[in-house]
Amino acid sequence: MFIKKLSLKNYRNYSDISINFNSEKILFIGKNAQGKTNLLEAVYYLSSLDSLRAKSDAELIKWNEEICNIKAEVKKFDVDIELEVTINPPNRKKLKVNGLNKNKSSDFISNMSTVCFTTNDLLLLRGTPDDRRKWLDLAISQIFPAYVERLAKYNKIRTQKNNYLKSLKGNINSDTSMLDIWNEQLAITGSNIIFIRINFLYELQKIAKEKHKQISENEDLSIVYNSSIIGDVPSTEKFEHNNEYILENFRKKLEEKKQEEIIRGQSIIGSHRDDISFFINKSEAKKYASQGQQRTIVLSLKLAELAFIKEKININAILLLDDVLAELDDIRQNYLLNAIDKDTQTIITSVDTLNFKEEYLKNVEIFEIKDNKINIL
Ligand SMILES: Nc1ncnc2c1ncn2[C@@H]1O[C@H](COP(=O)(O)OP(=O)(O)O)[C@@H](O)[C@H]1O
Ligand SMILES: [Mg+2]
Repeated sequence: MFIKKLSLKNYRNYSDISINFNSEKILFIGKNAQGKTNLLEAVYYLSSLDSLRAKSDAELIKWNEEICNIKAEVKKFDVDIELEVTINPPNRKKLKVNGLNKNKSSDFISNMSTVCFTTNDLLLLRGTPDDRRKWLDLAISQIFPAYVERLAKYNKIRTQKNNYLKSLKGNINSDTSMLDIWNEQLAITGSNIIFIRINFLYELQKIAKEKHKQISENEDLSIVYNSSIIGDVPSTEKFEHNNEYILENFRKKLEEKKQEEIIRGQSIIGSHRDDISFFINKSEAKKYASQGQQRTIVLSLKLAELAFIKEKININAILLLDDVLAELDDIRQNYLLNAIDKDTQTIITSVDTLNFKEEYLKNVEIFEIKDNKINIL
């Protein structure tokens, strides 16, 4: 797919800009804090309705303004699609596809696919379980858009359950019939989330393993899903159980932890407490891998995301590379740039063009960002 035009109104540091893209290879250059990441964030937002760094949509609105608007024209399978989001808190954000309102997030994000690779991703292994779940959930949402609704439903139930747990004030002798209702709903939605994650990781790791082998010259990458409900699930083998198996275990675990959850006043197990770990030649990468090896893992994962989107829904997702090239050594940088399919539109941000080989710069459309304005070079 291809983004032809991006228009922003009162978004981050931009009052009113419009950029036309005419190439598969786009480069934004500019000094620090000029708004390069903000631009990639806007593109990413249209494909996920999630910003990788903002905690709330309100942060995306230009300071001292009330409404912000992100709009793009994209081409997918030769069809033009216009996507538009209006953020105007406390109202619900407005989503439009070709001028028609959409109520469901999945009906909006299903129109555009991206893979975003930022310097933050390089810290994925050393980061928190939260970071790793977010990476996984967003990667899944690019292939199964309806997954975002399931996640939202789970989080809503969890919030309601937490509020209820707090209202019990640690009293284990209270009537817990309401808790049983929340738990059953949590188990149904959560077991499905875990099932989808495990199957996704199985498919993704097959591709990532190959990429990793090529970049590292023969190291063996494997991934394990660490579930608070069913323990460690290696993604090297196809999951042998069904959704029902996870559901039964979910119910059992919630029953076991009931008293502890009441005492602590919060949900302590579920898909929101799961994690993912990575292994190189069977030793855990977080503990034993060098920084370079960890970077190779992340690079392999990102390239695997791209390949998996292509395999599953036949789309060349737009690749967004935020400042990462400068962080990669020559070998990984070359591998990455050479691995990108020529039909994959790639938007890169960088402080300057020094990191790029002349060969790469030949077919690139370069924009310079300065003083909140964008000029084509
Ligand atoms: N909501 C906002 N309104 C106005 N300016 C913002 C907002 N959010 C961030 N900025 C500004 O955007 C700039 C950072 O942009 P960023 O895209 O991270 O820069 P770069 O990637 O080029 O280093 C900072 O100058 C910051 O003050
Ligand atoms: Mg930046």
